[in-house]
Amino acid sequence: MVVIAIDGTFSSGKGTLAKKIGAHYNYAYLDTGKIYRATAAKAIENNVDLEDGKACAKLAKTLTLNDLDNPELKSGPIGAAASKVAVHTQVRAALFTFQTGFAQNPPKGFDGAVLDGRDIGTVICPNADVKIYIDAKPSIRAKRRHKELISYNEDISYDEVLAQLTERDHRDMNRAEAPLKPAENAHLLDTSNLSIDAAFEAVISIIDAALR
Ligand code: DC
Repeated sequence: MVVIAIDGTFSSGKGTLAKKIGAHYNYAYLDTGKIYRATAAKAIENNVDLEDGKACAKLAKTLTLNDLDNPELKSGPIGAAASKVAVHTQVRAALFTFQTGFAQNPPKGFDGAVLDGRDIGTVICPNADVKIYIDAKPSIRAKRRHKELISYNEDISYDEVLAQLTERDHRDMNRAEAPLKPAENAHLLDTSNLSIDAAFEAVISIIDAALR
């Protein structure tokens, strides 16, 4: 089974690319951000403090693939809450087997798995066949994210999006446990000046060359 690890910053395009990789190669796709988002959503629903690692981890242990179908998970506030629950060691430990299980045993009918997140190449799948780290300039990521949030009818300015993105980058990159960083043997891709199609072509050539 082939495993592809995609990591990168918020709104770098990694999710779109990972999904397209899955469809192209018939690999099962797991957006691991969603499991942190679903944990945060459960915590909010149950009035659990996002700072309480133990209580959030308890909720994380109850997650199933069905919990990831909720479209509300994509919202800005849930993303920010996800970044907060993701700092807890207990939460990360609780979600570890969910992710490694998916990578090792993808759902039936697929020829491999592609996971995207922050620590896939470094912690979750250190032996992945191909690791790609995706990034883009903060101003460009904020512009993309702003457009996306407007399409969900969220009332937010570009400057607010940029400020939130900077805060999120800082938290994701500086936490003690599994901080966001490229794995040593990751291929780096900057999508600042690339269309989705051009970025997809670039990842396909990286993967094809690596699997050859
Ligand atoms: O990719 P995303 O925006 O949906 O992720 C939401 C948050 O979840 C992100 O800010 C940090 C956390 N996360 C993580 O810590 N590790 C992952 N593998 C994926 C997401």
